[in-house]
Amino acid sequence: MTATNRIVLSSDHAAIDLRQTIASHIAAQGWVVVDIGPTTAESTHYPTHGEAAAQLVASGDCRFGIILCGTGQGIMMAANKIKGIRCGVCGDTFSARMVRQHNDANMLSLGVRVVGEGLALDIVDAFLTASFEGGRHAMRVEMIETLEGRAR
Ligand code: RB5
Repeated sequence: MTATNRIVLSSDHAAIDLRQTIASHIAAQGWVVVDIGPTTAESTHYPTHGEAAAQLVASGDCRFGIILCGTGQGIMMAANKIKGIRCGVCGDTFSARMVRQHNDANMLSLGVRVVGEGLALDIVDAFLTASFEGGRHAMRVEMIETLEGRAR
């Protein structure tokens, strides 16, 4: 069963500071933060961290994942390779809301070199306060899952 109050956070070396700022921000809202690092600025590889966070969401250990790299793109691509993950890169609050409402995203990716801290926190809030609308969107999400099954 999915832990409804747990969010995994991960990043590559580029985004450690913003990741920690987001961790404090959402912890203050009552979320249980599972921050899986890294903690040093030593150069690392975003696929490793995207996959690690995605596995915790796919297994049900965490309800959501928030991942970051320089652009948000590479770590998002890695996360989306894990079955059951729907991760969108968001650089605006409208997309962050819609990716939950229409796509039932379970992970959010941010680019530390794209958005500033204030916008990043607003994007996180938009993502976490929106809900999946279901209805016609449910069938489309199921179609994504069918594609996922076919790819494996
Ligand atoms: C690291 O320099 C950078 O390539 C990475 O953070 C990310 O932007 C990749 O998508």
